Amino acid sequence: MLCQSGAVPVETPSAMPAPFAAPLLDWYGRNARTLPWRIPPGSAQVPDPYRVWLAEVMLQQTTVEAATGHFQRFVARWPTVGALAAADPADVMAAWAGLGYYARARNLLACARAVAAAGGAFPRREEALLTLPGIGPYTAAAVAAFAFGAATVPVDSNLARVAARLFWLESTGPALLRAAGDALRPHVPPDRPGDFAQALMDLGAMVCRPRAPACSSCPLAGACVAARTGRSDALPRRPAPRVRPRRFGTAWWVEAAGKVALVRRPPHGLLGGLLALPGTPWREAASPDLPFPGAWRWAPQPVVHGFTHFQLHLDIAVTRLESPRDFADGLLWAAPEEIAGVPTLFRKAVAVARTLAQDGGTT
Ligand code: ADE
Repeated sequence: MLCQSGAVPVETPSAMPAPFAAPLLDWYGRNARTLPWRIPPGSAQVPDPYRVWLAEVMLQQTTVEAATGHFQRFVARWPTVGALAAADPADVMAAWAGLGYYARARNLLACARAVAAAGGAFPRREEALLTLPGIGPYTAAAVAAFAFGAATVPVDSNLARVAARLFWLESTGPALLRAAGDALRPHVPPDRPGDFAQALMDLGAMVCRPRAPACSSCPLAGACVAARTGRSDALPRRPAPRVRPRRFGTAWWVEAAGKVALVRRPPHGLLGGLLALPGTPWREAASPDLPFPGAWRWAPQPVVHGFTHFQLHLDIAVTRLESPRDFADGLLWAAPEEIAGVPTLFRKAVAVARTLAQDGGTT
């Protein structure tokens, strides 16, 4: 049921499920995933807010499987918030490579520095956490609930899906996140808010999956409005597809004397401060430019990469020079094995360029 409250549409559940926290926590006790940032259910261990925060920032970017390796490398290298605060920003950016969206890595460092400057302890309350760089409502609720036992629910897309089915919520996008939080909050058990939310996350990953939910083995099936009416597949509703504009550019792979030309991108803006292949600006129409004449070879297909607000089609051109020459601002010459720290877009471009260069016998 969608009711109008001022300008913001608010969805309230059209049917109330039976109480479900007890069977959910029971199920979690038997099925919780073992994750490196998590305190197992029922354990007497005290959570480390630094690990909780770091994991949650990473998990907004990627899956549990993909975040795990990055998380373990981060905590091995920077075991405390103080250690991360003192890190060289270029090292943090390189360690973040593969997780995408580098503004988050810059905010991660800014947040670590703010916490370290205030004595090294994360604030306990959601409102205080929200004032830190890069911490939005989801992360603030996750850290408050998982690290400090606050009676709140961090709603990500997993929890939103579970709540949509459990309470029959038909809204989409941010409205669904709000409706799911409002519907779940009254059910949070005051003594186990962290386990409650993480149980819903595991249920969402293992049972209440996006496609083909396993309602027959779900501990909440008796309470769930969608399962009881056999319509779990109908929710969550899909938002209207977003049409992203395209942009076009060319990246140049230039080898000389066993080295490859790289540039450092300007400090602000997209992929700011990161290593990249040199190339053209990204424009609204394709214009395959080269920096100097020579024996260039072109990849048959562009690398296509999605950014939040546009889709980039990046053509790749490769060549080899007898000796290095200056052909772009801020050029540096790197040994091929030094290229690992480039962000995902350029990793894709490097993979294509290397194949092309090898096929042409240039490396
Ligand atoms: N997704 C986001 N946060 C998570 C967590 N703490 N455990 C499992 N999945 C998650």
